[in-house]
Amino acid sequence: MFEYEGITTLVTGASKGIGEALAVELARRGSHLVLVARSEKALEELAARLRSEHGVRVEVLSADLLATDAAERIEADLEARGLQVDLLVNNAGMGAVGPFLSRPFEPNVRSIQLNVVALMALTHRLGTAMLARGRGGILNVASVAAFQPMPFQASYAASKSFVLSFTEALAEELRGTDVRVMAAHPGATDTGFFDASSAEMHAGAATPEKVAARTLDDFARGRSISFPGNRSDRALAFVSRLLPRARTARIAGDFNRRAGFHQVSDAKAIPASTG
Ligand SMILES: NC(=O)c1ccc[n+]([C@@H]2O[C@H](COP(=O)([O-])OP(=O)(O)OC[C@H]3O[C@@H](n4cnc5c(N)ncnc54)[C@H](OP(=O)(O)O)[C@@H]3O)[C@@H](O)[C@H]2O)c1
Repeated sequence: MFEYEGITTLVTGASKGIGEALAVELARRGSHLVLVARSEKALEELAARLRSEHGVRVEVLSADLLATDAAERIEADLEARGLQVDLLVNNAGMGAVGPFLSRPFEPNVRSIQLNVVALMALTHRLGTAMLARGRGGILNVASVAAFQPMPFQASYAASKSFVLSFTEALAEELRGTDVRVMAAHPGATDTGFFDASSAEMHAGAATPEKVAARTLDDFARGRSISFPGNRSDRALAFVSRLLPRARTARIAGDFNRRAGFHQVSDAKAIPASTG
């Protein structure tokens, strides 16, 4: 079992949603924390709460992971503070919603930079140090969207397919070492994931607290893959692997059309999410 007690975990996207829930659950399990996101005030408030409720050390490192030198700056900041990261949780993520050709292009690029490039860069920088020390952990938050093409979330699902493939390959490269790697694949989770658009979440989304606790349980057990959300998520991901790709794209497209993702706008109706 991987022990969280006394280690130091860096969580990206810790200011809200699944990342905040992971930080809370890690603190509850005795891990010291480095919280990363852009919203410094939210991170400071969370840090103060976790220090007082759980007695763990919590550092706030406000950073925009879209900056091309973000990972380098984070590594330098950690070094300046004398911090060593035992577990890296790459959670920060975003996704463009809507018909690819009728919606702005930029959010697609930003999501690839955040979900893919920043994740890889942090993994490379902090993972190299873990390998040199001979121990550590890397936990990448992907999505059930990773398992099939998803019309109206096209670049988002593709970015999460990257995370799935990259994490599986890295886990195999590190087999036999004490650096453990896992991808978690939540399904729809009740966060602010869709706050930038009018897209809304269907009923039955998992809570971020449940997703966080199950993700950490699976990582501690040594799993290389985790489905921490609703029970049907694992089965759906399995079925997607069996069906022809065109068929899964059609099914996913029908699903997202029913959710109204083919006609989203920027206006926010009700904060909600799926991923
Ligand atoms: N919610 C779902 O249904 C669902 C399902 C499957 C997978 N996921 C995945 O779970 C992860 C967390 O999603 P969530 O639902 O919790 O989303 P969320 O509530 O929107 O939270 C996203 C987090 O990422 C941070 N972030 C965004 N842009 C950033 C940037 N440029 N630099 C640094 N941090 C940044 C945000 O903090 P700041 O805004 O303060 O920077 C925030 O803490 C994502 O990888 C998402 O793809 C979500």
